[in-house]
Amino acid sequence: MCGIVGYSGGKNCVGIIMEGLKKLEYRGYDSAGIAFEETQGLDVLKAVGRVENLEKLVKSRKVKSNCAIAHTRWATHGKPCVLNSHPHTDCKGEVAIVHNGIIENYAELKAVLSKKGHKFASETDSEIIAHLIEEELKKQKDFFKAFVLAVKKLKGAYALAAAYKNAPGVICAAKKQSPLVIGKGDGEYYLASDVPAFLNYTNKAIFLEDGDLAKITPSSCEVFNLSGVKQNRKVNVIKWSSSAAQKGGYKHFMIKEIFDQPQATKDTISTLPADIKKAFGIAPAAAKKIKGLYIVACGTAYHAALSAKYVIEHFAKLPVEVETASEFKYRSINFQKNWLFIAVSQSGETADTLAALMNAKKAGLKTLSICNVVGSTITRASDYTVYTHCGPEISVASTKAFTSQLAVLYSFALHMARQHGVLGKAEFDKLYKEFQTLPELISQTLKDEQSVKKIAKEVYKSNSYIFLGRNASFPIALEGALKLKEISYLHAEGFAGGEIKHGPIAIIDKDMPVVALAPKGSLYEKMISSCQEVSARGAKLIIISNTPTKGAVLVPYSNEYLFPILAVIPLQLLAYYISDLRGREIDRPRNLAKSVTVE
Ligand code: G6P
Repeated sequence: MCGIVGYSGGKNCVGIIMEGLKKLEYRGYDSAGIAFEETQGLDVLKAVGRVENLEKLVKSRKVKSNCAIAHTRWATHGKPCVLNSHPHTDCKGEVAIVHNGIIENYAELKAVLSKKGHKFASETDSEIIAHLIEEELKKQKDFFKAFVLAVKKLKGAYALAAAYKNAPGVICAAKKQSPLVIGKGDGEYYLASDVPAFLNYTNKAIFLEDGDLAKITPSSCEVFNLSGVKQNRKVNVIKWSSSAAQKGGYKHFMIKEIFDQPQATKDTISTLPADIKKAFGIAPAAAKKIKGLYIVACGTAYHAALSAKYVIEHFAKLPVEVETASEFKYRSINFQKNWLFIAVSQSGETADTLAALMNAKKAGLKTLSICNVVGSTITRASDYTVYTHCGPEISVASTKAFTSQLAVLYSFALHMARQHGVLGKAEFDKLYKEFQTLPELISQTLKDEQSVKKIAKEVYKSNSYIFLGRNASFPIALEGALKLKEISYLHAEGFAGGEIKHGPIAIIDKDMPVVALAPKGSLYEKMISSCQEVSARGAKLIIISNTPTKGAVLVPYSNEYLFPILAVIPLQLLAYYISDLRGREIDRPRNLAKSVTVE
């Protein structure tokens, strides 16, 4: 997804802006550009590919500026090329804009503007915004007022920033559906799609809300709604240190984040006391009335939701429907009364998940979000929010957010079981105590990293992999396959253990590594039978278990519903090491974006 960075203040901001763009690289992008104020007016530089390419250009031009807006583009309308990359300007090159999102009515606006004589340089939907502002500036001189009038004409999603030659030091910004946050410094303001872009300079963040329009100068930041009414937006103090957003000595963010998991789950669990009122903000009376759950998410978060279904059904005996958000939002569901809708999302900005949440809200359901990013759009749209406290997750392939989501959902299952009288106090306390040891169990699991590294060396030349699991571990098999696909670009598929004989076994041969999850418990023997079926076909078998099993990678023992949170760790490591041995660009896999803010 596109990333936006802006600055207005007393510093020469070019370095700050380049640094900010690099911090947003995780969002995925194909080109980058900057518009900066200089003595003659506005100048624009753009480059295809990495931010470093733009940086070289900026350095060669010895750019100095106190006010700039910049962008990393992830192509939606028009191929990745210099002309399509942002910032875009009006006909006279006096207004520059950067945009994240999609303008749905751009074709009709473009037709109207063309008739008025505007000439367009790119194939993008975004460029029309600069021309709309130019058109409004013909009617009146105030840049912010012209900006507001232009924004009023837009339909669709946008995080938007604009600068104007005749309004030095002023950045106008607008937000609808795509994220935008303002950083408050001393005599300076920052603007970005995400906090890490400016966290080295300030930890004071103002999260814009949908419909907000902001006028930023070095000394002020005023926020209005589309009707011109001033909005009070609080200044949040961000506790993530800037170094938390760095690699901390690891080769990649992904491996750092895998090793962050004991701390991430510890920080998350410490905010989930064994008291549902405090842990989830849902009053006990309301919790008791919940008759079932819809859980909706995308990608890795979807796998967390799917695994939680088994856990919640097992402990709380509540019906749970889980679906990918992109499908859920199109279904004609006869929503059940007294069912709670849960959205799971690391970023809190995934457009499909947000759309599904809005549908549920429209249907009158209460909504709970489980998110990692404080103040993100999904959290603001939900009745209740529980945060995973992972710190920023930079690697596109999600790891620590996943285990923390599983932890929140496991805790939720136990609380629901207690509230609904399925678990007695003693049983609940025992299970909760075991749950609270999870960070330590994860630490122990990570100690066996070398076994997984060794396996990766044995299998990394294979081009196709299968993952098997049953019950709450079946979604972990899906997640193991997804992790491997995402970062190695190899074929990998997850199946329910019992399904292997209904088709997938046909493709198994000696070149196919098969990873099987076999926790001690009700389905251990069944899983071992599945393992025998595949090894009889010559497959290279890799078993992950928590009980001594021949040739298995062992994770510490826990009950079979906590096992998934531990079992995913060797799978994350396996995906990481296979991809590293293959020389992949692990943190920024091709074609993927960390946060998908368009539907
Ligand atoms: C993208 C990312 C995935 C992520 C999914 C959901 O597809 O590449 O890694 O799992 O979005 O993101 P969310 O922020 O909603 O958890």
